[in-house]
Amino acid sequence: MSSGVGERGRELPPWEIREYDTLDSTNLEARRLLEGGAPEGLVVIARHQTGGRGRMGRQWFDLPGKSLMFSVAMRESSGFRAAVRVALAARAAVVELGGRGPDLKWPNDLVYGERKVGGVLSESFARETGDLVIVGLGLNVGYLPGELDIDARLAPTSLLIEEGRTWDRVELLRAALRGLRERWGAAWEVCMEESRAHLAFLGSAVTVNPPYALAGSPGRREEAIRGLLRGVDEEGNLLLEVGGELLRVASGDVAGG
Ligand code: BTN
Repeated sequence: MSSGVGERGRELPPWEIREYDTLDSTNLEARRLLEGGAPEGLVVIARHQTGGRGRMGRQWFDLPGKSLMFSVAMRESSGFRAAVRVALAARAAVVELGGRGPDLKWPNDLVYGERKVGGVLSESFARETGDLVIVGLGLNVGYLPGELDIDARLAPTSLLIEEGRTWDRVELLRAALRGLRERWGAAWEVCMEESRAHLAFLGSAVTVNPPYALAGSPGRREEAIRGLLRGVDEEGNLLLEVGGELLRVASGDVAGG
């Protein structure tokens, strides 16, 4: 994988890093800074968030200094693509620093088995000079068992618990930004291939829990569906094989089994 100009053939802007002790949310601060004219390549980092936001209107919990949390402003054709690049960079950072690394769970989670260690939230930002995506990563780094008992349904875990050792947040951040730069410049097919290689539950039986939506079919479904996870398509839809038919799930949550 290349860095610098990148296979996408455009000069990538340098990182413009803003670091804070406490923020409401790095995604919200990134939006405010972009509204004030901050450029693509903006990176907003916080040691603690008081109003961390997750997907589907959920909150994102952290204890000060125990999570890696940052948001990046990127020009990208979809929130899905930006989120995949960031999730892959986070995984690669853990591996580069000697860990096993988590898998990517559709749509935007980082997991060890069924347990969630991180998540990505991408939001669009419209600009006259070209729309951007604000991609926020939250990674549980230094939590001990019990410290993350916020919502058992999310089965939260941490790098400390899964990898059995402590992690330096600054090293993780540096490695993640290095990895993101490579993937930001990489052809999309290269990232798709890498994400498939680390896709949780690929080929296994999964349940898609309500509420979820099927691609091209309006409205939310309220009954769970079970099927074999066959992959993720170019638009970011989950490919679920049910009774010999391939369904495309546009949004929702997946559980193993
Ligand atoms: C999810 O799993 O639902 C996505 C979680 C995303 C959390 C990160 S933490 C940094 C950034 N700022 C936020 O408020 N949310 C994202």
